[in-house]
Amino acid sequence: MTEVRIRRGLMFWLVAAKDVVLLYFYTLFVFLESFFQSVFPPRLKSLKDEIILVTGSASGIGRMICLELASTGAKLVCWDINKWDNDGLVKELRNLGATAYGYEVDVSDRQKVRTAAEQVKTDVGDITMIINNAGIMPCHSFLSHNPKEISRAFEVNVLSQMWVVREFLPRMIERKCGHIVAICSMAGLIGSRNLSVYSSTKFAVNGFMEALQDELAHLPEGLHIKFTTVYPTSCDTSFSKNIVHTRRDPQLVAKKTVEGIRRNKESICIPPTIVIFGFFLKSLPSKVFHAGRELMGIYSEPRPAATR
Ligand SMILES: NC(=O)c1ccc[n+]([C@@H]2O[C@H](COP(=O)([O-])OP(=O)(O)OC[C@H]3O[C@@H](n4cnc5c(N)ncnc54)[C@H](O)[C@@H]3O)[C@@H](O)[C@H]2O)c1
Repeated sequence: MTEVRIRRGLMFWLVAAKDVVLLYFYTLFVFLESFFQSVFPPRLKSLKDEIILVTGSASGIGRMICLELASTGAKLVCWDINKWDNDGLVKELRNLGATAYGYEVDVSDRQKVRTAAEQVKTDVGDITMIINNAGIMPCHSFLSHNPKEISRAFEVNVLSQMWVVREFLPRMIERKCGHIVAICSMAGLIGSRNLSVYSSTKFAVNGFMEALQDELAHLPEGLHIKFTTVYPTSCDTSFSKNIVHTRRDPQLVAKKTVEGIRRNKESICIPPTIVIFGFFLKSLPSKVFHAGRELMGIYSEPRPAATR
């Protein structure tokens, strides 16, 4: 009896040791591959004839992404709650020679998303790439949020992404191709003051993308669907009216996003140094993480109402 138990114990440790060694070599291989790809990046894939849906297209990063995509030969489907600005964008895209369609959609409303999706299927065809970008950013202390604002943030930033993906993923699975992109945020990797609600929505987006990708990777038909999550730091869009620090040009974010999508990158950090804070610093003792966040000024201060 004891002999059997010892043999089983031994087997367990041998299998565990084999797994650790395999993981070690796999990690080494992935690091080398990443290094190689940073020197010789994979070729940009063509977006010609893709049908790309961009939500929150009327302004800021979404608008810049559409303009960046205008010369790629893709058909652009632009969804925004703001009809006026979205119609203006579609006109501009057509003047640039792009094929673009605009729809007024509140992406937080599941029924409106369903209706618009049906309309797009009739007017344009199957969406082959989703860029889930629409978002809102309340920026103030947690207790000063009202409950409606908290629910709304989750509806617009998180649930909307699920409603949109639910509409178009089944056809992507059937066709064994497709690309799902989420505009997340550095706030989806690092929590900081005044962004407790916004940050929670972006952590949720991160979790959704990671879990869905894993789920599809285990389906033979889902294996070919690509996933990209984008983590920008603060940039100068209508979001900036809420916060004191704003730096980055949304055009740069759009450029890096489209380039990353065309290289099938799984994550795009803008700037790339976010990797250090989002992934590496977090693996250090929490006091080091807190000190690093303070040192680098990774937090947001609400702009006083009078100056918005
Ligand atoms: N600006 C930043 O500092 C920053 C940083 C990191 C990530 N992001 C993310 O980038 C994305 C775009 O933000 P932005 O900075 O361009 O802001 P923005 O306000 O300029 O653009 C957001 C767009 O989404 C649209 N929208 C809002 N609610 C909607 C709804 N319910 N249905 C349909 N459309 C809706 C708005 O009309 C607007 O056109 C957001 O997901 C945001 O969280 C922004």
